[in-house]
Amino acid sequence: MPNIVVVGAQWGDEGKGKVVDVITPHVNVVVRYQGGNNAGHTVVVGREKYVLHSIPSGILHPGCRCVVGCGVVVDPGSLIEEMESLVQRGVTLDGNLFISKNAHLIMPYHPALDRASEAKLGKRRIGTTGKGVGPAYVDKAARVGIRMADLLNEALFREKLELNVAQKNRLLREIYDAQTFTVEEILNQYLRYAGWLAPYITDTALLLSKWIDSGYSVLFEGAQGTMLDIDHGTYPYITSSSTTAGGAATGTGVPPTRLHGVLGVSKAYATRVGGGPFPTEMQGAIAEHIRGRGNEYGATTGRPRRCGWFDGIVARYAVRVNGLDTVALTKLDVLDQCETVKVCVGYRYRGDVLTEFPEDETVMAEAVPVYEELSGWLAPTGGFQLEAELPAKARQYLARLEELTGVPLCLISTGPQRAETILVEDSPLTRWFPSVRSSLP
Ligand code: IMP
Repeated sequence: MPNIVVVGAQWGDEGKGKVVDVITPHVNVVVRYQGGNNAGHTVVVGREKYVLHSIPSGILHPGCRCVVGCGVVVDPGSLIEEMESLVQRGVTLDGNLFISKNAHLIMPYHPALDRASEAKLGKRRIGTTGKGVGPAYVDKAARVGIRMADLLNEALFREKLELNVAQKNRLLREIYDAQTFTVEEILNQYLRYAGWLAPYITDTALLLSKWIDSGYSVLFEGAQGTMLDIDHGTYPYITSSSTTAGGAATGTGVPPTRLHGVLGVSKAYATRVGGGPFPTEMQGAIAEHIRGRGNEYGATTGRPRRCGWFDGIVARYAVRVNGLDTVALTKLDVLDQCETVKVCVGYRYRGDVLTEFPEDETVMAEAVPVYEELSGWLAPTGGFQLEAELPAKARQYLARLEELTGVPLCLISTGPQRAETILVEDSPLTRWFPSVRSSLP
Protein backbone atom coordinates (compact mmCIF):
# COMPACT_ATOMS: atom_id res chain seq x y z
CA MET A 1 0.00 0.00 0.00
CA PRO A 2 1.46 3.35 -0.98
CA ASN A 3 2.76 5.93 1.46
CA ILE A 4 2.29 9.32 -0.16
CA VAL A 5 3.38 12.82 0.83
CA VAL A 6 1.14 15.79 0.05
CA VAL A 7 2.99 19.12 0.04
CA GLY A 8 2.17 22.70 -0.77
CA ALA A 9 4.01 23.75 -3.93
CA GLN A 10 3.80 27.51 -3.25
CA TRP A 11 3.60 29.65 -0.06
CA GLY A 12 0.93 27.64 1.75
CA ASP A 13 -2.87 27.88 1.57
CA GLU A 14 -2.90 25.96 -1.72
CA GLY A 15 -6.00 23.98 -0.78
CA LYS A 16 -4.18 20.90 0.51
CA GLY A 17 -7.14 20.15 2.81
CA LYS A 18 -9.45 19.36 -0.06
CA VAL A 19 -6.90 17.10 -1.76
CA VAL A 20 -6.19 15.30 1.53
CA ASP A 21 -9.95 14.88 2.01
CA VAL A 22 -10.26 13.17 -1.39
CA ILE A 23 -7.39 10.75 -0.63
CA THR A 24 -8.10 10.01 3.05
CA PRO A 25 -10.79 7.34 2.50
CA HIS A 26 -8.14 5.30 0.66
CA VAL A 27 -5.47 5.32 3.37
CA ASN A 28 -5.33 3.96 6.91
CA VAL A 29 -3.29 6.70 8.53
CA VAL A 30 -2.80 10.45 8.10
CA VAL A 31 0.28 12.08 9.67
CA ARG A 32 1.25 15.71 10.24
CA TYR A 33 5.03 16.03 10.17
CA GLN A 34 5.92 19.72 10.69
CA GLY A 35 4.62 23.13 11.67
CA GLY A 36 2.18 23.82 14.44
CA ASN A 37 -1.04 25.69 14.97
CA ASN A 38 0.18 28.36 12.54
CA ALA A 39 -1.51 26.11 9.96
CA GLY A 40 -5.24 26.03 9.71
CA HIS A 41 -7.86 24.56 7.54
CA THR A 42 -11.56 24.61 7.49
CA VAL A 43 -13.39 21.40 6.65
CA VAL A 44 -17.10 21.40 5.92
CA VAL A 45 -18.86 18.07 6.42
CA GLY A 46 -22.57 18.35 5.67
CA ARG A 47 -23.73 21.33 7.75
CA GLU A 48 -20.85 21.11 10.23
CA LYS A 49 -17.80 23.32 9.89
CA TYR A 50 -14.56 22.24 11.57
CA VAL A 51 -11.46 24.41 11.88
CA LEU A 52 -8.37 22.30 12.46
CA HIS A 53 -4.90 23.60 13.25
CA SER A 54 -2.84 20.72 14.66
CA ILE A 55 -4.90 17.56 14.17
CA PRO A 56 -4.96 16.04 10.68
CA SER A 57 -8.36 16.39 9.02
CA GLY A 58 -8.35 12.59 8.64
CA ILE A 59 -9.81 12.56 12.15
CA LEU A 60 -13.21 13.34 10.59
CA HIS A 61 -13.12 10.02 8.70
CA PRO A 62 -14.16 7.23 11.08
CA GLY A 63 -11.47 4.56 11.36
CA CYS A 64 -8.67 6.76 10.03
CA ARG A 65 -5.76 6.92 12.46
CA CYS A 66 -4.18 10.33 12.86
CA VAL A 67 -0.68 11.03 14.03
CA VAL A 68 0.97 14.24 15.16
CA GLY A 69 4.60 13.46 14.36
CA CYS A 70 7.81 14.43 16.14
CA GLY A 71 8.48 17.26 13.66
CA VAL A 72 5.37 19.15 14.78
CA VAL A 73 5.44 21.77 17.55
CA VAL A 74 2.33 21.52 19.69
CA ASP A 75 0.55 24.23 21.63
CA PRO A 76 -1.23 21.95 24.12
CA GLY A 77 -3.91 24.50 25.02
CA SER A 78 -4.85 25.01 21.39
CA LEU A 79 -4.67 21.23 20.73
CA ILE A 80 -6.99 20.44 23.66
CA GLU A 81 -9.47 23.07 22.46
CA GLU A 82 -9.49 21.37 19.06
CA MET A 83 -9.90 17.94 20.69
CA GLU A 84 -12.77 19.12 22.91
CA SER A 85 -14.59 20.64 20.01
CA LEU A 86 -14.24 17.37 18.04
CA VAL A 87 -15.41 15.23 20.99
CA GLN A 88 -18.45 17.48 21.53
CA ARG A 89 -19.43 16.83 17.93
CA GLY A 90 -19.17 13.07 18.32
CA VAL A 91 -15.72 12.46 16.82
CA THR A 92 -13.90 9.53 18.46
CA LEU A 93 -10.33 10.38 19.41
CA ASP A 94 -9.46 7.34 21.53
CA GLY A 95 -7.68 4.80 19.35
CA ASN A 96 -7.60 7.30 16.47
CA LEU A 97 -5.28 10.07 17.66
CA PHE A 98 -1.60 9.52 18.48
CA ILE A 99 0.85 12.24 19.49
CA SER A 100 4.61 11.77 19.29
CA LYS A 101 6.51 11.72 22.57
CA ASN A 102 9.23 13.71 20.81
CA ALA A 103 7.06 16.54 19.50
CA HIS A 104 8.13 19.81 21.06
CA LEU A 105 5.79 21.93 23.12
CA ILE A 106 4.92 25.52 22.40
CA MET A 107 5.20 27.18 25.81
CA PRO A 108 3.50 30.47 26.84
CA TYR A 109 6.78 32.36 26.44
CA HIS A 110 7.06 31.34 22.78
CA PRO A 111 4.16 33.47 21.43
CA ALA A 112 5.41 36.31 23.67
CA LEU A 113 8.90 36.04 22.13
CA ASP A 114 7.40 35.70 18.64
CA ARG A 115 5.47 38.99 18.99
CA ALA A 116 8.31 40.81 20.73
CA SER A 117 10.83 39.74 18.09
CA GLU A 118 8.51 40.80 15.25
CA ALA A 119 8.03 44.22 16.84
CA LYS A 120 11.80 44.63 17.14
CA LEU A 121 12.47 43.63 13.50
CA GLY A 122 10.53 46.64 12.21
CA LYS A 123 10.44 46.68 8.41
CA ARG A 124 12.32 43.37 8.26
CA ARG A 125 9.61 41.60 10.23
CA ILE A 126 8.50 38.23 8.90
CA GLY A 127 4.76 38.71 9.38
CA THR A 128 4.45 35.55 11.47
CA THR A 129 1.17 34.13 12.71
CA GLY A 130 2.28 35.06 16.26
CA LYS A 131 1.65 31.51 17.53
CA GLY A 132 5.17 31.02 18.87
CA VAL A 133 6.12 28.46 16.24
CA GLY A 134 9.50 30.03 15.37
CA PRO A 135 10.68 30.42 18.99
CA ALA A 136 9.60 26.82 19.77
CA TYR A 137 11.80 25.56 16.91
CA VAL A 138 14.61 27.84 18.15
CA ASP A 139 14.51 26.00 21.50
CA LYS A 140 14.40 22.64 19.73
CA ALA A 141 17.57 23.49 17.77
CA ALA A 142 19.19 25.02 20.86
CA ARG A 143 18.50 21.75 22.73
CA VAL A 144 16.53 23.40 25.52
CA GLY A 145 13.07 22.55 24.16
CA ILE A 146 10.46 20.74 26.24
CA ARG A 147 8.84 17.72 24.63
CA MET A 148 5.55 15.90 24.94
CA ALA A 149 7.16 13.08 26.93
CA ASP A 150 8.42 15.63 29.49
CA LEU A 151 4.80 16.44 30.31
CA LEU A 152 4.54 12.92 31.75
CA ASN A 153 7.48 13.37 34.13
CA GLU A 154 6.70 16.18 36.56
CA ALA A 155 10.19 16.46 38.10
CA LEU A 156 11.92 16.63 34.71
CA PHE A 157 9.30 19.01 33.35
CA ARG A 158 9.81 21.36 36.32
CA GLU A 159 13.60 21.26 35.91
CA LYS A 160 13.45 22.11 32.19
CA LEU A 161 10.79 24.74 32.78
CA GLU A 162 12.82 26.50 35.49
CA LEU A 163 15.83 26.69 33.19
CA ASN A 164 13.75 28.05 30.33
CA VAL A 165 11.72 30.55 32.34
CA ALA A 166 14.87 32.05 33.85
CA GLN A 167 16.44 32.37 30.40
CA LYS A 168 13.32 33.66 28.60
CA ASN A 169 12.41 36.13 31.33
CA ARG A 170 15.82 37.73 30.95
CA LEU A 171 15.34 37.97 27.21
CA LEU A 172 11.81 39.33 27.54
CA ARG A 173 12.74 41.86 30.21
CA GLU A 174 16.16 43.03 29.08
CA ILE A 175 16.01 42.78 25.30
CA TYR A 176 12.35 43.20 24.54
CA ASP A 177 11.01 45.13 27.53
CA ALA A 178 8.07 42.72 27.60
CA GLN A 179 6.06 40.86 30.26
CA THR A 180 7.69 37.91 32.04
CA PHE A 181 6.37 34.53 33.28
CA THR A 182 6.36 32.55 36.53
CA VAL A 183 7.27 28.86 36.75
CA GLU A 184 4.36 27.94 39.04
CA GLU A 185 1.74 29.43 36.77
CA ILE A 186 2.99 27.56 33.70
CA LEU A 187 3.60 24.38 35.68
CA ASN A 188 0.03 24.24 36.99
CA GLN A 189 -1.45 24.94 33.61
CA TYR A 190 0.74 22.40 31.79
CA LEU A 191 0.18 19.66 34.39
CA ARG A 192 -3.54 20.05 33.74
CA TYR A 193 -2.83 19.69 30.02
CA ALA A 194 -0.73 16.59 30.78
CA GLY A 195 -3.76 14.92 32.38
CA TRP A 196 -5.74 15.47 29.20
CA LEU A 197 -3.05 14.50 26.72
CA ALA A 198 -1.36 11.56 28.49
CA PRO A 199 -3.48 8.83 26.85
CA TYR A 200 -2.52 10.07 23.39
CA ILE A 201 1.24 10.50 23.86
CA THR A 202 3.21 7.59 22.48
CA ASP A 203 6.14 6.39 20.35
CA THR A 204 4.54 7.24 17.02
CA ALA A 205 7.64 6.36 14.98
CA LEU A 206 7.40 2.78 16.24
CA LEU A 207 3.65 2.66 15.63
CA LEU A 208 4.05 3.93 12.08
CA SER A 209 6.77 1.38 11.40
CA LYS A 210 4.55 -1.48 12.63
CA TRP A 211 1.54 -0.21 10.69
CA ILE A 212 3.56 0.07 7.48
CA ASP A 213 4.95 -3.46 8.07
CA SER A 214 1.39 -4.73 8.34
CA GLY A 215 0.45 -3.19 4.98
CA TYR A 216 -1.19 0.05 6.08
CA SER A 217 -1.11 3.01 3.72
CA VAL A 218 0.00 6.33 5.16
CA LEU A 219 -0.67 9.86 3.93
CA PHE A 220 1.81 12.52 5.05
CA GLU A 221 0.00 15.84 5.25
CA GLY A 222 2.31 18.81 4.79
CA ALA A 223 1.48 22.19 6.27
CA GLN A 224 2.44 25.58 4.79
CA GLY A 225 4.30 25.27 1.48
CA THR A 226 7.63 24.76 -0.29
CA MET A 227 8.55 28.45 -0.43
CA LEU A 228 8.18 28.69 3.36
CA ASP A 229 10.63 25.81 3.99
CA ILE A 230 13.42 26.70 6.41
CA ASP A 231 16.12 25.50 4.01
CA HIS A 232 14.55 25.77 0.57
CA GLY A 233 12.16 28.69 0.96
CA THR A 234 12.60 32.43 0.60
CA TYR A 235 14.74 32.71 3.75
CA PRO A 236 14.42 34.57 6.10
CA TYR A 237 10.76 35.08 5.12
CA ILE A 238 9.84 31.51 5.89
CA THR A 239 8.34 29.39 8.64
CA SER A 240 10.78 27.50 10.87
CA SER A 241 10.16 23.92 9.75
CA SER A 242 10.91 21.56 6.85
CA THR A 243 7.76 21.98 4.81
CA THR A 244 9.16 20.11 1.81
CA ALA A 245 8.83 16.37 1.23
CA GLY A 246 12.05 15.50 3.08
CA GLY A 247 10.38 16.73 6.26
CA ALA A 248 7.95 13.82 6.01
CA ALA A 249 10.77 11.43 6.89
CA THR A 250 12.55 13.46 9.56
CA GLY A 251 9.29 14.69 11.06
CA THR A 252 7.87 11.20 11.60
CA GLY A 253 10.73 8.70 11.81
CA VAL A 254 9.49 6.91 8.69
CA PRO A 255 12.58 6.50 6.48
CA PRO A 256 12.63 7.93 2.93
CA THR A 257 12.92 4.39 1.54
CA ARG A 258 9.36 3.71 2.73
CA LEU A 259 7.83 6.69 0.93
CA HIS A 260 6.39 5.93 -2.49
CA GLY A 261 5.42 9.26 -4.00
CA VAL A 262 4.92 12.98 -3.60
CA LEU A 263 1.93 15.00 -4.69
CA GLY A 264 2.23 18.79 -4.84
CA VAL A 265 -0.73 21.11 -4.46
CA SER A 266 -0.74 24.45 -6.23
CA LYS A 267 -3.32 27.11 -6.88
CA ALA A 268 -3.98 28.17 -10.47
CA TYR A 269 -2.57 31.52 -9.34
CA ALA A 270 -0.46 32.28 -6.24
CA THR A 271 -0.87 33.78 -2.78
CA ARG A 272 1.41 34.61 0.11
CA VAL A 273 0.71 35.84 3.65
CA GLY A 274 3.26 37.91 5.56
CA GLY A 275 6.43 39.59 4.29
CA GLY A 276 9.03 38.47 1.78
CA PRO A 277 9.63 38.41 -1.96
CA PHE A 278 6.72 37.56 -4.23
CA PRO A 279 7.73 38.46 -7.79
CA THR A 280 4.36 37.79 -9.42
CA GLU A 281 2.37 39.81 -6.88
CA MET A 282 -0.59 41.62 -8.44
CA GLN A 283 -1.57 45.16 -7.56
CA GLY A 284 -4.78 47.15 -7.77
CA ALA A 285 -8.09 45.97 -9.17
CA ILE A 286 -6.96 42.54 -10.35
CA ALA A 287 -5.54 41.75 -6.88
CA GLU A 288 -8.84 42.80 -5.29
CA HIS A 289 -10.77 40.72 -7.80
CA ILE A 290 -8.75 37.55 -7.14
CA ARG A 291 -8.76 38.08 -3.35
CA GLY A 292 -12.53 38.50 -3.37
CA ARG A 293 -13.33 35.59 -5.70
CA GLY A 294 -10.80 33.31 -4.01
CA ASN A 295 -11.74 34.41 -0.48
CA GLU A 296 -8.06 34.91 0.14
CA TYR A 297 -7.99 35.62 3.87
CA GLY A 298 -5.86 33.60 6.33
CA ALA A 299 -7.63 30.68 8.10
CA THR A 300 -5.53 31.22 11.24
CA THR A 301 -5.15 35.00 11.41
CA GLY A 302 -7.83 36.33 9.01
CA ARG A 303 -5.17 38.49 7.30
CA PRO A 304 -5.79 39.37 3.62
CA ARG A 305 -3.46 37.27 1.48
CA ARG A 306 -1.21 38.86 -1.13
CA CYS A 307 -2.29 37.56 -4.56
CA GLY A 308 -0.19 36.96 -7.67
CA TRP A 309 -0.04 35.18 -11.00
CA PHE A 310 1.10 31.56 -11.35
CA ASP A 311 4.87 31.44 -11.08
CA GLY A 312 6.35 28.75 -13.34
CA ILE A 313 9.81 29.22 -11.82
CA VAL A 314 8.51 28.52 -8.32
CA ALA A 315 6.46 25.59 -9.63
CA ARG A 316 9.46 23.95 -11.32
CA TYR A 317 11.56 24.53 -8.22
CA ALA A 318 8.86 22.85 -6.10
CA VAL A 319 8.95 19.87 -8.47
CA ARG A 320 12.72 19.67 -8.07
CA VAL A 321 13.13 20.04 -4.30
CA ASN A 322 10.15 17.84 -3.41
CA GLY A 323 10.53 15.31 -6.23
CA LEU A 324 6.89 15.89 -7.15
CA ASP A 325 5.36 13.09 -9.20
CA THR A 326 2.24 15.07 -9.95
CA VAL A 327 0.39 18.29 -9.16
CA ALA A 328 -3.19 18.89 -7.98
CA LEU A 329 -4.27 22.31 -9.21
CA THR A 330 -6.84 24.17 -7.13
CA LYS A 331 -9.07 27.24 -7.53
CA LEU A 332 -9.08 27.29 -11.34
CA ASP A 333 -12.57 28.83 -11.14
CA VAL A 334 -11.16 31.96 -9.45
CA LEU A 335 -9.66 32.92 -12.84
CA ASP A 336 -12.93 32.38 -14.76
CA GLN A 337 -13.63 36.10 -15.24
CA CYS A 338 -10.11 37.21 -16.20
CA GLU A 339 -9.78 38.51 -19.76
CA THR A 340 -6.13 37.53 -19.79
CA VAL A 341 -4.18 35.25 -17.49
CA LYS A 342 -0.47 35.68 -16.97
CA VAL A 343 2.09 33.00 -16.28
CA CYS A 344 5.61 33.81 -15.12
CA VAL A 345 8.21 31.96 -17.21
CA GLY A 346 11.39 33.72 -16.06
CA TYR A 347 12.81 36.41 -13.81
CA ARG A 348 14.56 39.43 -15.25
CA TYR A 349 17.49 40.35 -13.03
CA ARG A 350 19.98 43.06 -13.96
CA GLY A 351 19.85 42.38 -17.69
CA ASP A 352 19.70 38.57 -17.41
CA VAL A 353 16.68 36.31 -17.61
CA LEU A 354 16.78 33.59 -14.96
CA THR A 355 14.85 30.41 -15.54
CA GLU A 356 15.78 28.70 -12.27
CA PHE A 357 14.74 29.85 -8.80
CA PRO A 358 17.58 32.03 -7.44
CA GLU A 359 18.50 30.91 -3.95
CA ASP A 360 20.02 34.32 -3.20
CA GLU A 361 17.52 36.44 -1.26
CA THR A 362 18.72 39.72 -2.80
CA VAL A 363 18.20 38.38 -6.33
CA MET A 364 14.70 37.16 -5.50
CA ALA A 365 13.82 40.53 -3.98
CA GLU A 366 14.75 42.35 -7.22
CA ALA A 367 13.46 39.74 -9.69
CA VAL A 368 11.01 41.12 -12.22
CA PRO A 369 8.74 38.48 -13.73
CA VAL A 370 8.77 37.72 -17.44
CA TYR A 371 5.19 36.89 -18.32
CA GLU A 372 3.44 34.97 -21.01
CA GLU A 373 -0.09 36.27 -21.46
CA LEU A 374 -2.79 33.79 -22.31
CA SER A 375 -6.28 34.65 -23.33
CA GLY A 376 -8.83 34.09 -20.52
CA TRP A 377 -11.73 31.67 -20.99
CA LEU A 378 -14.45 33.97 -19.58
CA ALA A 379 -16.72 31.01 -18.80
CA PRO A 380 -17.47 28.98 -15.69
CA THR A 381 -15.24 25.99 -15.01
CA GLY A 382 -17.14 24.72 -11.95
CA GLY A 383 -19.17 21.54 -11.94
CA PHE A 384 -17.46 19.63 -14.77
CA GLN A 385 -16.32 16.09 -14.10
CA LEU A 386 -13.98 15.73 -17.05
CA GLU A 387 -11.06 17.85 -18.17
CA ALA A 388 -12.31 17.59 -21.75
CA GLU A 389 -15.51 19.44 -20.78
CA LEU A 390 -13.62 22.56 -19.67
CA PRO A 391 -13.53 25.63 -21.95
CA ALA A 392 -10.80 25.19 -24.59
CA LYS A 393 -8.81 28.21 -23.33
CA ALA A 394 -8.85 26.86 -19.78
CA ARG A 395 -7.46 23.57 -21.12
CA GLN A 396 -4.75 25.50 -22.95
CA TYR A 397 -3.86 27.21 -19.67
CA LEU A 398 -3.65 23.85 -17.88
CA ALA A 399 -1.55 22.37 -20.67
CA ARG A 400 0.90 25.30 -20.41
CA LEU A 401 1.21 24.84 -16.64
CA GLU A 402 1.87 21.13 -17.13
CA GLU A 403 4.52 21.95 -19.70
CA LEU A 404 6.20 24.44 -17.37
CA THR A 405 6.26 22.14 -14.35
CA GLY A 406 7.19 19.05 -16.34
CA VAL A 407 4.88 16.80 -14.32
CA PRO A 408 1.30 15.73 -15.03
CA LEU A 409 -1.73 17.18 -13.30
CA CYS A 410 -3.74 14.61 -11.33
CA LEU A 411 -6.66 16.69 -10.09
CA ILE A 412 -8.21 20.05 -10.93
CA SER A 413 -10.35 21.74 -8.33
CA THR A 414 -12.93 24.25 -9.53
CA GLY A 415 -14.66 25.07 -6.24
CA PRO A 416 -14.80 24.13 -2.55
CA GLN A 417 -17.30 21.26 -2.91
CA ARG A 418 -16.27 17.69 -3.61
CA ALA A 419 -18.44 17.79 -6.75
CA GLU A 420 -16.26 20.61 -8.03
CA THR A 421 -13.31 18.33 -8.67
CA ILE A 422 -11.99 16.92 -11.92
CA LEU A 423 -9.95 13.78 -11.53
CA VAL A 424 -7.47 13.21 -14.34
CA GLU A 425 -8.20 9.68 -15.57
CA ASP A 426 -4.71 8.21 -15.70
CA SER A 427 -2.26 9.92 -13.34
CA PRO A 428 0.08 8.98 -10.47
CA LEU A 429 -2.85 9.63 -8.11
CA THR A 430 -5.16 7.10 -9.80
CA ARG A 431 -2.28 4.65 -9.99
CA TRP A 432 -1.52 4.97 -6.26
CA PHE A 433 -5.18 4.83 -5.31
CA PRO A 434 -7.21 3.17 -8.09
CA SER A 435 -10.43 3.59 -6.09
CA VAL A 436 -9.97 7.36 -5.57
CA ARG A 437 -12.80 8.12 -7.99
CA SER A 438 -15.26 6.68 -5.46
CA SER A 439 -14.57 9.59 -3.05
CA LEU A 440 -16.02 12.02 -5.58
CA PRO A 441 -19.71 12.38 -6.38
P1 IMP B 1 5.19 31.49 11.47
O1 IMP B 1 5.06 30.14 10.88
O2 IMP B 1 4.02 31.89 12.31
O3 IMP B 1 6.50 31.71 12.15
O4 IMP B 1 5.18 32.55 10.24
C1 IMP B 1 6.25 32.63 9.31
C2 IMP B 1 5.73 32.90 7.90
O5 IMP B 1 4.99 31.78 7.44
C3 IMP B 1 4.76 34.10 7.83
O6 IMP B 1 4.93 34.73 6.57
C4 IMP B 1 3.40 33.44 7.87
O7 IMP B 1 2.40 34.23 7.25
C5 IMP B 1 3.68 32.17 7.07
N1 IMP B 1 2.77 31.07 7.41
C6 IMP B 1 2.78 30.30 8.52
N2 IMP B 1 1.79 29.39 8.47
C7 IMP B 1 1.15 29.58 7.31
C8 IMP B 1 0.07 28.91 6.66
O8 IMP B 1 -0.52 27.94 7.17
N3 IMP B 1 -0.29 29.41 5.45
C9 IMP B 1 0.36 30.44 4.85
N4 IMP B 1 1.39 31.08 5.40
C10 IMP B 1 1.78 30.65 6.62
